[in-house]
Order: sequence, then structure tokens, then C-alpha cells
Amino acid sequence: MCTSSLARTTPAISLESAADVAQREALLDLAFGRAARLAKTSERLREGRKPAEGLAFASHGPDGRVVATLRLWHVTAGPGRPALLLGPLAVHPWFRDRGLGGALMNTAICEATRLGHGAILLVGDAPYYARFGFAPALTEGLWLPGAFDRSRFLGLELVPGALAGARGLVSPTGAPVELPSLGELVAQGGTGELRRTA
Ligand SMILES: CC(C)(COP(=O)(O)OP(=O)(O)OC[C@H]1O[C@@H](n2cnc3c(N)ncnc32)[C@H](O)[C@@H]1OP(=O)(O)O)[C@@H](O)C(=O)NCCC(=O)NCCS
Repeated sequence: MCTSSLARTTPAISLESAADVAQREALLDLAFGRAARLAKTSERLREGRKPAEGLAFASHGPDGRVVATLRLWHVTAGPGRPALLLGPLAVHPWFRDRGLGGALMNTAICEATRLGHGAILLVGDAPYYARFGFAPALTEGLWLPGAFDRSRFLGLELVPGALAGARGLVSPTGAPVELPSLGELVAQGGTGELRRTA
């Protein structure tokens, strides 16, 4: 029986809001290092895209700051095979080893299942993700758009057979992040980038 942890754990897990974004980015920088995390092949599947609807999670500490984050992204696992990419997952060092990472993972898996998704892919530490059912065997026929360690490229079927025979390149399919209009940039005084690239 799959039980979501949304709003049932301490600290509670909720859907990420716009107000969480800056603190989430700072948490990810702390957990992975900014340059290292932006260089990851998984990032090529996330950059410029919005996370999947209803599948961007945050957890807040007693002072209201973001202490954990997890998002999932639309991809295709080879041609015509919709899937989700999970990550990055990070818990602030002060809040680790008390089940928050696991609660986020279980919430994400349950919510993705509830929303009708068939499969989840990720690149990460197999010993950690195996406890949630992720396995490298399900991604054997798939490639990522850059360098990756195949032993860390894992899959989970939410619907039995969703990754059976999956073959090909994993590609991003999520909605693009809307860029501000020229008028909005001018109003914000943010035209420097446009001048440089003109
Ligand atoms: C990985 C991470 C999200 C786990 O969060 P957490 O809230 O501490 O996780 P939980 O409390 O649910 O689980 C802790 C358990 O996972 C284990 N664990 C943590 N990181 C692990 C890893 N990389 N590989 C294997 N096991 C790991 C802990 O040893 C602990 O084991 P135990 O239950 O047998 O004592 C957190 O350590 C973190 O943010 N790390 C830095 C970023 C990162 O590595 N993200 C994952 C990318 S692969």
C-alpha cells in the first residue's frame, strides 16, 4: 500500500512554492556545489524546463527555511515512452538521518503513481535508491545526453512493464520555463544581458 507523506511528516513535506526557489537553490549549492551540480548530465534534462506538475516538493524547518528539496521532470525514455526524471534530492546536513530523505522519496513515488505516471529514472547512489525499488537493470537500453556512470543510472516502474524494452536516448519533454518579455526586463532594469548578446 502506497502512502504519501505529504503534510504528515516532521518537518512536513509540501509542494514547492515560488517563495522557496532561492532557498532551494542555496540548499542545492550547499549539498552538491554549484558548479558540480550544474555540470551534471541530468541537468541537461532539467535546464530551461519546469518540473512536472504537482511533483516539486519542499520541506521547511522550524524557522520556515527550506531544509529539503526533491523535484521530478518530464522526459521520454527513448521514443514515445513518457517517464519522469527524479532529482536533485537534497536534505540540509542538520536534518539528515531522521528519515526526511526517505519521506520525500516515498511522497514523490506515491504522488507520481497517483498522478498516473508509469516510470521514474534517476542518476544517483544505487545503495540509497535501491531501498525504494530503483534498479539499474531497467535502464540498460537507455542513454543520457552526456557522460554518466551506468551503475548509477536507475529506473523504477510505477506501472508494471512501463520500462520493458525501453531503448534510446532520454530526452527532456517538460514545458519550457517562460522567459520574461523585453518589457518586463526593461521594467526590472535587467537589459544588460540583452545588450551583451545583441
Ligand atoms: C542522500 C540524502 C538526501 C539522504 O537524506 P536523509 O534525510 O539523511 O535520508 P534518510 O534519513 O531517509 O536515510 C538515511 C539513511 O540513508 C543512508 N544514506 C544516506 N546517503 C546515502 C548514500 N549516498 N548511499 C547510501 N546510503 C545513504 C544513511 O546512511 C542512512 O542509513 P540508515 O537508515 O541505514 O541509517 C542526504 O544525505 C543528502 O542530501 N545528501 C547530499 C546530497 C545527495 O547526495 N543527494 C542524493 C544524490 S545521489
